[in-house]
Amino acid sequence: MPSTEIKNICCIGAGYVGGPTMSVIADKCPHLHIHVVDIDEQRIKAWNSKNLQDLPIYEPGLDEKIKKCRDINLYFSTEIEKNISNADMVFISVNTPTKTKGIGAGKASDLKWVEACARQVSKYASGHTIVVEKSTLPVKTAEVIKIILEDAQLNSQNSKTTFDVLSNPEFLAEGSAIEDLENPDRVLIGGENIEAINLLSEIYLNWVAEEKILHTNIWSSELAKLTSNAFLAQRISSINSISAICEATGADVREVSRAIGSDSRIGSKFLDSGPGFGGSCFKKDILNLVYLCEYFGLPEVAKFWEEVIEINKWHQHRISKLIVKKLFGTVSGKKISILGFAFKANTNDTRESAAIVICKDLIEEGALLSIHDPKVDKYQIEKDLGIKLNLNEESKSEDHSYKSKGGWTYAPSIKKSLIGADASIILTEWNEYGNIDWNMAKKIMRSPSWIFDARSILIPEKVKNAGLNLWRIGDGSN
Ligand code: NAD
Ligand code: UGA
Repeated sequence: MPSTEIKNICCIGAGYVGGPTMSVIADKCPHLHIHVVDIDEQRIKAWNSKNLQDLPIYEPGLDEKIKKCRDINLYFSTEIEKNISNADMVFISVNTPTKTKGIGAGKASDLKWVEACARQVSKYASGHTIVVEKSTLPVKTAEVIKIILEDAQLNSQNSKTTFDVLSNPEFLAEGSAIEDLENPDRVLIGGENIEAINLLSEIYLNWVAEEKILHTNIWSSELAKLTSNAFLAQRISSINSISAICEATGADVREVSRAIGSDSRIGSKFLDSGPGFGGSCFKKDILNLVYLCEYFGLPEVAKFWEEVIEINKWHQHRISKLIVKKLFGTVSGKKISILGFAFKANTNDTRESAAIVICKDLIEEGALLSIHDPKVDKYQIEKDLGIKLNLNEESKSEDHSYKSKGGWTYAPSIKKSLIGADASIILTEWNEYGNIDWNMAKKIMRSPSWIFDARSILIPEKVKNAGLNLWRIGDGSN
């Protein structure tokens, strides 16, 4: 049976979810002792680094939480065994990427990390432990976790080891994680045992209103998380598909978004057309949903959701193609400035970023990219593009007589990225890109120069008045 209060929490997985989530819980619940554990020693070292600039993830407001709580009631370590053993509640917050081989490869979630966690908990837990699924998981994963834990109970020398399993999916978005965690639209808790549900609810009640804490059965909770991401991604694919029609017909996607978003049934959020959705979860979670539909004999439903991903892919390549077309049909040997590599602003995360697809397309066409991002380092870009940064090419990239087969360099500043460039493409909506002095840009770029605003963050007149050509996403006057 659950104990009457929770004192010690262990969170397995110190990533984009584990780190921020536990930092906010530690801040709001000073009476709790929270240990975030991970197998990745480097990541834990970074979480413990004295210089808060060196935290492994960038998230506005996170450094303040770490400064306030670390080593007071929030600890980061690789001591998995000890911290599971001491915990009353264990959050599983590990990665659940798409399977790359075997049954369901390319669609199903790879649950090997979740299973490993369940085995670790079954081995080291003592007394009663509430196991909380924080990772995004396919429906019925709780059953797998339960089977592993129950098996441990049966084989345990210590008959007092007991478990409850709850689903408590996370809805934070990167870049606004701290704000989302502090003011959630809702907290979802799925489970069977009301005592365990209440113990988890009590933690959130320290800062979340009771009416925002939703209780459901465990399968609804698991499915609601996948559905939520599928609906959000679908909205972006919908508006991006409309941006293409706007460009073809003379309409403006911003005006269309405003017009439809004013309908309270549709709502105004998540209607910004961009270069296509990225991030570690939308594609993975929809693929997971598609796999589940196929598994449960619902191919028509699977096809419906798969199209959300297909149109996103098409949209990203559409942008690369139109850039080449505008630049007289060729980008070979031309310097192109890329502004932004993260999948959205205010994060250093590049997973599934549209920038990866668009940059690869342009390099394939022979372009010399000069990539700038305020938070993504060159090693990450190198890893994502799978193309080595050639330092010798860095000095040559402004020399148009240099015929390269395509490549990229890292630009330490916006200005360096723009010098000698034929075009600049805004792929991430970082604030600083909205404040560029376009008169200065005109002087240092090669004419005729093009600005491609794939995020719709520029004031068109400012760019055009500087004598630059402008293309904006979904703008029929392009
Ligand atoms: P991540 O890759 O940033 O972090 C996962 C961490 O788990 C890694 O540091 C890894 O080393 C660690 N880990 C894996 N197996 C382990 C084990 N057996 N023991 C200890 N540590 C282990 O992933 P993330 O972005 O934090 O996502 C985690 C989960 O949360 C995923 O299921 C994801 O779908 C979901 N989610 C993510 C977001 C987001 O914005 N990133 C938002 C909501 C939900
Ligand atoms: C998303 C969801 O918003 C979170 O609720 C969820 O918890 C999370 O996935 C997850 O499960 O991982 P995240 O991917 O961090 O969060 O960021 P979003 O703000 O949703 O943006 C995703 C992508 O859509 C980005 O590339 C973003 O630029 C793009 N986007 C978003 C648009 O192109 N237009 C919009 O109007 C909104």
